Amino acid sequence: MTTLKLVTQPNKILRTVSIDIARETFSEYKKLGEEMVEAMLKYEGIGLAAPQIGRNINMFTINKDVTLGEDHLILCNPKIVFLSKGTNVMEEGCLSCPKIYGDVSRSEKIRVKAFSLDGVLHTFKAKGLLAKVFQHEIDHLNGTLILDKFE
Ligand code: CO
Repeated sequence: MTTLKLVTQPNKILRTVSIDIARETFSEYKKLGEEMVEAMLKYEGIGLAAPQIGRNINMFTINKDVTLGEDHLILCNPKIVFLSKGTNVMEEGCLSCPKIYGDVSRSEKIRVKAFSLDGVLHTFKAKGLLAKVFQHEIDHLNGTLILDKFE
């Protein structure tokens, strides 16, 4: 069982811009990545970013229920390389903002490059809910919360 605790707002950690993980140290973060997945599942999130467990590092997880992949994604050092001009609005919540929900406008389509902790750089093309989750989690790494984006 994970011992990670969720950070909820207001908290300075959630408002701090996180930093990249040095590539030669990726392997040291594997256990934390797995614990983040456990925490994401325990708290029934579809994604989780490292600041939400108290670490200002550029790492996040996405639930396989959203990716429809075989495994949950554990990614670090993401770079958004494309955001569509077309946007749409969806009601969002956040584990760090308990019981608060609101409409957030985001790009419909996104392309993101990010590393898995084995050092492989992946490119993700996403639309729909997955595009929202990528944008939501990367916002966390930049110190941005849904509260800032409510319509
Ligand atoms: Co969130």
